[in-house]
Formats: sequence, structure tokens, C-alpha cells
Amino acid sequence: MKCIREAAPGILSVGASDRRLALFENMFPLEDGVTYNSYLVADEKTALVDTVDSSVMGQFLENVGAGLAGRALDFLVVNHMEPDHCAAIAEICLRHPAAKIVGNKKTFTMIGQFFREDLSPRFHEVKEGDTLALGERTLKFIMAPMVHWPEAMLALETSGNILFSADAFGTFGGFSGNLFSDEMDFEKLHLAEARRYYANIVGKYGPQVLAALAKLGGNVPALICPLHGPVLRGSAIPFMLEKYARWASYAPEKEGVVVAYASMYGNTAGAAHAMADMLAERGVKDMRIFDVSKTHCSHIIAAAFECSHLVLAAPTYNMHLYAAMDTLIRDMAALNVQNRKVAVIGNGTWAPAAPKLMASMLGEMKNMELVGDPLVILSSMKEAQIPEMEALADRLVASMGRRG
Ligand code: FEO
Repeated sequence: MKCIREAAPGILSVGASDRRLALFENMFPLEDGVTYNSYLVADEKTALVDTVDSSVMGQFLENVGAGLAGRALDFLVVNHMEPDHCAAIAEICLRHPAAKIVGNKKTFTMIGQFFREDLSPRFHEVKEGDTLALGERTLKFIMAPMVHWPEAMLALETSGNILFSADAFGTFGGFSGNLFSDEMDFEKLHLAEARRYYANIVGKYGPQVLAALAKLGGNVPALICPLHGPVLRGSAIPFMLEKYARWASYAPEKEGVVVAYASMYGNTAGAAHAMADMLAERGVKDMRIFDVSKTHCSHIIAAAFECSHLVLAAPTYNMHLYAAMDTLIRDMAALNVQNRKVAVIGNGTWAPAAPKLMASMLGEMKNMELVGDPLVILSSMKEAQIPEMEALADRLVASMGRRG
């Protein structure tokens, strides 16, 4: 059965949801799947903007066939070559022998790498600012390298000011039937997963995201059609533009504390909870606390993008840092998490290496300010250390609201 909605007059949403997928990129846990969006512009000429993942190919091909209603496909626009969007290129080409593939030089290199078929006779190369006239509608191409791959580009439909934004402004989660952000409580339903998607998929490339946003020149699109999640319309557009500007500049959304701990037998967890209690008693609201062995680090990294302060607590293991905390800090570094203030609590029974290792790893990251000295615990925290922890909590609270 076809599943199509009209995103704008003559522009059909022909993508599909995969709710069976447990791990996006075989890495990031999904609660409610993900959508692979594709848009069919049916004007005097027809253009399909991106394809989908192979997992939803059947639904997609049915949707495209129904959307074209017997017409030929003139153009396949490839804004992004990651296989969750490009998997159906060869199949579309097979079914539409006259369709030209619109992309840039890097797009075509990647098509050659991913596909066995020689698709080069169909290539229609575009560069920054080039346009593709389809009739009443015209696509203008904006290069967006590293948002999220080097070949990524955006397409602005100029007559309706509609931005086909590739991975930008995407979110995890399958379609609900409501396509548009203003058909739902977007912030409640999608902001957390949009943040997790951004932080973990595109988070490393903040400067490139800012450069792509700058190319809009202050233009606020009337509609944003991303490759994952709802189509943005109405107040969600300035809201998400502001979020993207903030995330891309690694500025926290709010003053708040994320406590992330690793603990084998509960002693480090106890210290982390004691610290969280002290912070709450000092007026810190909306505390977040995560067990890094239980919660996938993508959720913790999303929280780190949201909040200004972190408390990291972990034991020593094999004279090194407990592996799950080691992974969290390395992932934060890989994703360029920066401009945060961090307090460290480290545990060890005979040679507590964790505090120094955490401080050292954080010291190698950009603009990560260590608040106070690491609090060192020998096996379990004792009453005698309460004043030291209270002092660390005081310093953390004193540093809130003070940026730079
Ligand atoms: Fe949704 Fe970078 O692919």
C-alpha cells in the first residue's frame, strides 16, 4: 500500500519508516526506529530528492511509482551518499532509464565506489549556487561538506523557499502519520532525539554546520525537508535553526549538571549520587544521572551537548580507566564536545589511576575546564571526605552562570 503525503503543492513525501531497526549505523540504539525520507517534486519535470535505505526499498518504490503516476522520472537529486539514503540509486536508475543523476564531483566519486553499474553517462554535475529548473519550481544547490559527509549538499527550492536539508535537522524515530512538525508536539516528541541525532551523527562537524547555515544568509526557509524525521514547518523552523546554531558552536542550551558514573559494586555510584544530592541541595535543578554501563553513551553525549557542567565518576580497572567511562570520554572527544566545566571523582582500592587518567583525557579536549581537583576515593567514600566533596559541589555551583 502506498504511503505518501504532500509536503507542499506538487512535492510528495515518498520515504518510509524502519521500526525494526535496533541500531542506527549498527551503533546507536533506536527506541522507535527511524525514517528514511525522500521527496518527489512533480512539476513540468519530475525530480526525486534522495532515495532510502535498502530496508524500506519495497515501500519506497511503491510510493515513487504511485507518486509518478505513469510519468517518467527526469532527475534523481543525490544530496547525500551515505547508504541510508543512496541504497536505491541503482534500482531507480534501472526503472527510470532516462533519469539524470544530479550531484557534485564528490557525489559521483562515491557513486563509483558504492555501485558496480557504470552510472556515469547519467551524471549531471552541479556546483555551489547552480540551479535546476523543473517548471514552476527551481532547485538551487548549496554545498554542505561534512554535514555529514564530504559530498553532502542542500537543495533550496526557490519559489517556495523549501530547504531539502539532507541529514541536517533530522531526528530518530519512525513516522507517526503526522508528517509536519506543527501537526504534533514537536519539542516534546522529537527534540531529545533530534539532539541525540545531531550530537552523535553530526556533532563533530560544528564549524561545517555553521558554514552551511551561514550560506542561507539569514533566509528562514518556509519548510525544511530533512532526510530523517518530520518535515519542519512553522515555529519549529526558527526553533531548530537556533538549536543548530547553538549545538554547532558547542554552546550549552542551559546551565545544568550531567552526572555520569561507572561503578562495579556500587561504591563509585554512591559517591556520584552523594555529589548529585549536594548539588541539588545547593539549588541545581533538573539534574541528570547516568550509569555509563547501562545507558548508551549516545544519550549521555546528547545530555552533554545540552548542559553546561559534567560530573564524571569512575573506578580504576587494570591500572586504567574503567572501560565504559574510557569509551564515553573518548567518544566525547571524537565528537568535539567542548566548552564544558567538569568535576572528576575517581576510585581505586590500591592504586587509584582513574582520577588522573580522567583529568588527563579531559585536559586534551578543547576548552574543558576541570573544576577543582579530582576527588580521590579509596574503595568507598568515607564520612571524613564529605567536606572535600561539599567543597567540590560549592565550586561547581559557583562556576554555573559563569561562562568563559
Ligand atoms: Fe542519514 Fe549521513 O546519513
